[in-house]
Amino acid sequence: MPGLTREMPIAIIGAGTMGAGIAQVAAAAGHPVLLFDARQDAPARAIEQIKASLARLVERKRMTEADASALAARIRPCTALADLKGAGLAIEAIVEDMAIKKALFTELESLLGPDAVLATNTSSLSITELAGGLKRPERVAGMHFFNPAPVMPLVEIIRGFATGADVAQTVFDTAKAWGKKPVHVKSTPGFLGNRVARPFYGEALRTLEESATDVATYDALIREAGGFRMGAFELLDLVGIDVNWAVTNSVHDAYFHDPRYKPFRIQGEMVAAGRLGRKTKLGFYDYREGAPPPQPQDAAPAPAPAHVTIEGDLGPAASLEGRADRAVIAVRRLPGAGALVLPECRLVLSDGRTATERMAQEGGAPLVLFDLALDYAVAPRIAIAAADQAPRRALTAATGFFQALGMKISVVDDIPGLIVMRTVAMLSNFGFDAVHAGIADAAGVDLAMQAAFNYPLGPVTWAERIGLAHVAATLDNIARAYGEDRYRASPLLRRRAAAGLTLSGTPFPTPR
Ligand code: NAI
Repeated sequence: MPGLTREMPIAIIGAGTMGAGIAQVAAAAGHPVLLFDARQDAPARAIEQIKASLARLVERKRMTEADASALAARIRPCTALADLKGAGLAIEAIVEDMAIKKALFTELESLLGPDAVLATNTSSLSITELAGGLKRPERVAGMHFFNPAPVMPLVEIIRGFATGADVAQTVFDTAKAWGKKPVHVKSTPGFLGNRVARPFYGEALRTLEESATDVATYDALIREAGGFRMGAFELLDLVGIDVNWAVTNSVHDAYFHDPRYKPFRIQGEMVAAGRLGRKTKLGFYDYREGAPPPQPQDAAPAPAPAHVTIEGDLGPAASLEGRADRAVIAVRRLPGAGALVLPECRLVLSDGRTATERMAQEGGAPLVLFDLALDYAVAPRIAIAAADQAPRRALTAATGFFQALGMKISVVDDIPGLIVMRTVAMLSNFGFDAVHAGIADAAGVDLAMQAAFNYPLGPVTWAERIGLAHVAATLDNIARAYGEDRYRASPLLRRRAAAGLTLSGTPFPTPR
């Protein structure tokens, strides 16, 4: 389906940050745009802003001057709601208030007629509730753009309880024709992206509460081992610690206080202290003039080992073998359960158990855990943690081994799942759970998290790379360590792990 034809006028209600951005996107695709705001001067002001941002594109030769002025000329400022008559699609981006949005939709449905689609850019309100009480709730869908709308590719196309499949598809096809990456989503608190992303922040905050490492080291690990563009604390500071706190609490409330979504006290303390991030110049980092730049902790240089024995299959860390070869460390191979063996210690990938617990269970040589990396062949940094009962020389030997491979070492406390493994296991779990709940399909989950949140891999695909059985075991072990339901594995993750089957690239389960 092609979506709406280019001649079809698009009404945008609300000419603030999002409305202006969406107006630009629709006009860029060739539609006449009718831009209305309760503040009379807002549409004209928004058009001036759009013109200024187009002028920057012209300057950078990304657009011709003629195209820029034709685009701007397609946006008509409107001073009365009645001016929107004739629009085939209305997208509201007004204040985030259920009653006000409902009142607007009630007016719009009588003004625009039975064939018009009413879309909302709400980031948190239920589409089902917004459509409830309207004469034609089947014509209502969410069209959730991300800020800045002209730049961000993801658009969540959200179906409420009554949204017609044809309506959702028309909005999807329209977003696609506008050059966006739409994903079908069933209405649920946080929709797709903000629901799946919760543990990215939550696990970081818990790690900080546990003093397992410091903020700068945590973020460095997430970036340099995890391959994420930004660390959780940097991102919280950028978005606003208070803004994220409000989203976290509203999602937690909406899921009836399911411990999966539990907020962490430390974030509330930051809000109470007025440390909101970049906007207050103080958040997890210090942005005041003269403040020292953040410094992740690196372990002191330690001697390289002459040789290492690789026992069994290292699974997702298999490329460490080639890296050891290149570092001219003699590699010996033996069958076994997947470990790097040095004279002073055994090095194993985290499976959610602490090193201390695992050494107590398995006995034998002193145990040091290493964390997950996106790509062990190139990762510049890795976290390690030693068992409490291991002698100091075990940690030194492990440090020397990874340093010889050209990696920086961050020694962290022996917490369940360490840093990257825990974060990725939880993101994957949330991704599988979204599929399990019929909120999106696996491709949609992966696309959303890559397109709007810049994840280096989609959480479903990432779990499959690690191995679903390993991810499920990691979650079980973390759940046991904390005695918390927060880490319970998604039934779908467990099922696919048991079946030895992947989920990405399959149409299972059929999106509803
Ligand atoms: P904003 O405050 O920049 O703009 C809202 C505009 O709506 C204002 O110009 C205001 O005068 C106008 N308005 C308020 N009530 C109105 C009414 N009854 N009729 C007509 N116009 C009215 O807000 P922003 O940030 O653009 O957000 C708009 C919507 O988009 C909200 O629902 C928000 O949750 C959602 N959203 C915001 C994102 C963001 O990053 N800012 C991202 C995604 C969604």
